[in-house]
Amino acid sequence: MRNKIALYGAGNVGATTGHWLADKEIGDIVMFDIFGQTAAGKALDLYEAGPAIGFDSRITGSSDVGIIEGADVVVVTAGVPRKKDPVTGKFPSRDELVKINQDVMSQVSENIKKHAPDSIVIIVTNPLDAMCHVVKHVTGFPRERVIGQAGALDTARYKTFIALELGVSVEDVHGIVLGGHGDTMVPLPRHTSVAGIPVTELISQEKLDAIIDRTAKGGGEIVGLLGYSGYYAPAAGTAIMVESILKDKKRVIPSAVYTQGEYGYQDLFIGLPVVLGRKGVERILDMDLNEKERAMLDHSAEAVRSVVAVLGYD
Ligand code: 2OP
Repeated sequence: MRNKIALYGAGNVGATTGHWLADKEIGDIVMFDIFGQTAAGKALDLYEAGPAIGFDSRITGSSDVGIIEGADVVVVTAGVPRKKDPVTGKFPSRDELVKINQDVMSQVSENIKKHAPDSIVIIVTNPLDAMCHVVKHVTGFPRERVIGQAGALDTARYKTFIALELGVSVEDVHGIVLGGHGDTMVPLPRHTSVAGIPVTELISQEKLDAIIDRTAKGGGEIVGLLGYSGYYAPAAGTAIMVESILKDKKRVIPSAVYTQGEYGYQDLFIGLPVVLGRKGVERILDMDLNEKERAMLDHSAEAVRSVVAVLGYD
């Protein structure tokens, strides 16, 4: 039987995730969106691309949430994205979205619990780490099946800038970004290499610092250009997570995971290196962090904790 992937939200990120996934032929895709015929229209449009590109993924869409019934993986992008406030002219930070999206996410979680009780849920909605808490809290799913997409995107941005700086293929850049999905995220140059050569031997500290800063502010850079959140890279990051899960590839992808003592954190979603397989989060890998890296991760965890506190859970 084919896998069933549900895209809960068919906006830019949801639909583009469908685009990457359709081409990977990992399963059939259903799109759900509350806005009229958006999901049905985007799904049909994407489905009709199959003969041209050569994929056989079946893609359907609906504004009836029953379409997600029995999904193996549910990707949640529903919620209010970062966009310009028409009154103040300012862009909300990811964290300012917390209360608005908590309500949306609670409803989403109820629906997932009802229609796809055995699914693995990948959350993309911001503020990412806090929204993972809402889904875990409302669904009561075990931590293996509630995963936040953030590190996949942040690491992709980080590798892009390193490849750009060195003029090498992105395929030869290996690295990792930990922590919350916000300006306090923690790119780790000491654990970054280009075809095995430590990046610290190839790029000066000053330039690495600039790359780290650009990575941490990567989401904001796109919002500044587009006027709304980016979607190609966020969707690509999501697609590789779905692929690793459904193909049971066991790729190591930094993702927001509910800690139960790992790295010294308790009951907190934070980006750590996890092995993603058919059971969802199958393992959290340990890393030997030095004092500075540790302090940065702790700082990021604190930032996440302060947003999570706004949710009002015990
Ligand atoms: C980003 O970093 C919107 O969080 C998303 O682009």
